[in-house]
Amino acid sequence: MYPYQRPRRLRKSKAIRDLVQETRLHPDDFIVPLFIIEGQNKKEEIPSMPGYFRMTLDHIKKEVKEIWRMGLKSVLLFVKVDDNLKDNTGQAAIDENGLMQQAIKSIKDTVPEMYVMTDVALDPFSSLGHDGIVKNGKIVNDETVEMLAKMGLSHAKAGADMLAPSDMMDGRIRALRETLEENSFDDVGIMSYSAKYASAFYGPFRDALDSAPVDEVNVPKDKSTYQMNPANRNTAITETLLDIEEGADIVMVKPGLCYLDIVRDLANTIEHPIAVYQVSGEYAMLKAAAEKGWLDHDAVMLEQLTSIKRAGASLIASYFAKEAVKLIG
Ligand code: PBG
Repeated sequence: MYPYQRPRRLRKSKAIRDLVQETRLHPDDFIVPLFIIEGQNKKEEIPSMPGYFRMTLDHIKKEVKEIWRMGLKSVLLFVKVDDNLKDNTGQAAIDENGLMQQAIKSIKDTVPEMYVMTDVALDPFSSLGHDGIVKNGKIVNDETVEMLAKMGLSHAKAGADMLAPSDMMDGRIRALRETLEENSFDDVGIMSYSAKYASAFYGPFRDALDSAPVDEVNVPKDKSTYQMNPANRNTAITETLLDIEEGADIVMVKPGLCYLDIVRDLANTIEHPIAVYQVSGEYAMLKAAAEKGWLDHDAVMLEQLTSIKRAGASLIASYFAKEAVKLIG
């Protein structure tokens, strides 16, 4: 009781503040998303994500070497394929010589120790811009899951360390786990996007991959029949417990900042590592405000990342990973 308890004593100097600091960012906390395109010698800045690029594999090789040198140990791969490779069932996703499969091999050849995670979902390959197959105006669950299992297996064969299904179909973790086990890929992990919300913060990412749902009759305009309702909290626990039961190694909450209550709910409920995806719209907002001189970019970035970790995340997929590590490393 006052005056014996004066909390300000522990804030008196930087030394004592550092000594009692509870949460610290470390390079090991980060997963670096990479956007890969076909061709050679291309590095295109994504207009709604200033400072972030789509790259051809030759540039990706340099990038992963640099990332590794900086102390970052994992990448999460997304590919942008040409429109003529897209169809409703995403067949190009399971091509053994597809862009994703080539990218996995090439990164593993370049930096064998890099932990390679791959996006498993149909949207970059879907002519309709959905994470699943569309039939009669609906995203069909079980047929999509069959396709996702084939996709995951092809990533494992190419050398992926961990599959990251971002689609939100029911039962996909179990299907992926079973397929991996049956094919002797028992050490290939699964990071499930288990609590992924139908969020408007994904806009810049859909620009980056040209993967937004198309405006056609009988094609749902948004992803709200599979991604979660932003108003819901309990559903996140249901989804996450199911994914763990089905075989997920790491679970994820996405987006980040608006959903930190969910991260804490999960941290209080489960023992598995929790990842947070700080998404493209979160990145874009800070870049835009900083460009206008309205926010201190580095300070806000570190505050946001620290808050994500304080909420209970042990891993953060973030477009700020390199910038953050330069400051904290
Ligand atoms: C789609 C996918 C999305 C993101 C990752 N995987 C977008 C979506 O669900 O439409 C978003 C990532 C970001 O915004 O940074 N499977």
